[in-house]
Amino acid sequence: MMESTERNRVCGVERAGALDISLRKLFQDPRKILKPFIREGMAVADLGCGPGFFTIEMAKMVGKTGKVTAVDLQDGMLDIVRKKVSNSDLQNIIIFHKCHADKIELTESFDFILIFYMLHEVPDQSAFLNEVFYLLKPRGRVLIVEPKFHVTKNDFDSSKMIMEKTGYKIVEELKVFLSRSVVLEKNV
Ligand SMILES: C[S@@+](CC[C@H](N)C(=O)[O-])C[C@H]1O[C@@H](n2cnc3c(N)ncnc32)[C@H](O)[C@@H]1O
Repeated sequence: MMESTERNRVCGVERAGALDISLRKLFQDPRKILKPFIREGMAVADLGCGPGFFTIEMAKMVGKTGKVTAVDLQDGMLDIVRKKVSNSDLQNIIIFHKCHADKIELTESFDFILIFYMLHEVPDQSAFLNEVFYLLKPRGRVLIVEPKFHVTKNDFDSSKMIMEKTGYKIVEELKVFLSRSVVLEKNV
C-alpha cells in the first residue's frame, strides 16, 4: 500500500474544467493518441474518466456496435460526462460506473483500457493494476499516461516494476506531451 501524499491526492470536481479546456486538444488530441488502440465495435474502458475529455472521443471511435465504460470514483465527474452526452446517440454507447478508491468492481472484459493521469491518485497501485489485469481480454491492451509535473521518472519506474510483476508486458513507451506513458499487453 502506497502512503497517501500530495502526489496521490484525488483531483476534485472543482478542477474538472482545467482538464477539459479546448487548448488541451492541441497537445493531447484524444483521437491521435487513441487511434492505434481503438477500433469500431470494441469494448473499451476509461478508468478515472474525470469530465470525459477522452471518453467522448472513445465513444465516437467504437461507434454504435461498441461500448465505452466510463469509470470514476466521483459522482460529480460522471455527472459531467452524462450531461455532455444527454442529447446525443453517444449516451447509448457509454456505460457509467462509479467505483471505490480501492476496488473497480467491474465484471466485463475489455479490448482496451485507458488510464490517463489517474494512476498516481490510486492508493494501492499493485492491487489496482492486478484488478485491471483481470478486466483485460487476452491480448487486450492498456495505455497508462502520467503527468510529468506530478510523477517523477523514479516514481514512474517504480510503477513500471509493479506492472511487470503483475504480469503485463510493456510493449511501448508512447510520446505524449508533458507526460510519461506506457502501453501494456496482457502477457498470456
Ligand atoms: C486528474 S483526473 C484525470 C481525468 C481524465 N482521465 C483526463 O485525463 O482528463 C483523475 C481522475 O481519476 C479519478 N480517480 C482517482 N482515483 C481513482 C480511483 N481509485 N478509481 C477511479 N477513479 C479514480 C478522479 O476522480 C479523477 O476524475
